[in-house]
Amino acid sequence: STVAIAQSLPPLEQKERYKVGFPQMESNNPWRIAESKSFVDTAEACNWDLISTDAGGSAAKQVADVDSMIAQGIDVLFLPPREEKPLIPAVKKAAAAGIPTFLVDRSVDPNNAKAGVDYVSFLGSDFIDQGRRVAEWTIENFKGDKAVVVQLEGTTGSSPANDRKKGFDDAIAKDPRFTIVASQTGDFARDKGRQVMETLLQAHPDVDVVYAHNDEMAIGAIQALELAGRKPGEDVLIVSIDGTRDALQAIIDGKMGVTVESSPFFGPLACETMKRYAAGEEIEPWVQVKDRIFTQANAAENIKDAY
Ligand code: AHR
Repeated sequence: STVAIAQSLPPLEQKERYKVGFPQMESNNPWRIAESKSFVDTAEACNWDLISTDAGGSAAKQVADVDSMIAQGIDVLFLPPREEKPLIPAVKKAAAAGIPTFLVDRSVDPNNAKAGVDYVSFLGSDFIDQGRRVAEWTIENFKGDKAVVVQLEGTTGSSPANDRKKGFDDAIAKDPRFTIVASQTGDFARDKGRQVMETLLQAHPDVDVVYAHNDEMAIGAIQALELAGRKPGEDVLIVSIDGTRDALQAIIDGKMGVTVESSPFFGPLACETMKRYAAGEEIEPWVQVKDRIFTQANAAENIKDAY
């Protein structure tokens, strides 16, 4: 008969310097660039020899990048999984190689990999709550008595796209004025957001509200709407998530209503959590990041710190 061996997390030795892996998923938007920079900036302060890669928007390449980091003998892995399912084998492989893994900013499918078992912890925002807060702000601030809503989703199969949709859809359904007539992916990218908005405008020229899962797509949508002769901020309300410089500027300019923050500055939190783990502390399965909300009331005072 066989005896099941309980899998426990790989420990992290306390030492002077660590070889740290950060396999970034893509670098095609300011959020990703700010996150990568946060890791680079933290490396010196936290005594990391940082190995970072750029998967160029491919989950398969991100899996291969993790493989190569394992081969290079990293001590610890900070992984932002591009999509929820394809990165699971990478998480399990790192665990099998005795490398403690922290998921940063995005998570993996909870049915297939677990915090405290396959990886130490997820460091990140509550994406469902972000979507809910956008919906609640929209319900409170949309003045008409009927609204045609278009949703621009993030990368298909990613945790922020899944959760930001769920949080928004559930909350907006509580107000019968709002009807979501279309919900399509713009892959979290400005250009794709603009293209998808152009197409959706053909079928829904009467759109009243655009909810984008991130600011880059919101800015793309604003460009498409303006090209079609619409006036964002006047005859169509744009609401979104992240808190980039361009979005805060769009709020200041009156083109966008709200953006719920999703911070990309994970470096310091990664350093601190890793040190706690190395000291033998038990780490909570989800180290939750608290997000602010940016509107006309505070965009100007916050733009100086935006990315
Ligand atoms: O995972 C966080 C999301 O990824 C950000 O909201 C988005 O801009 C980025 O690409």
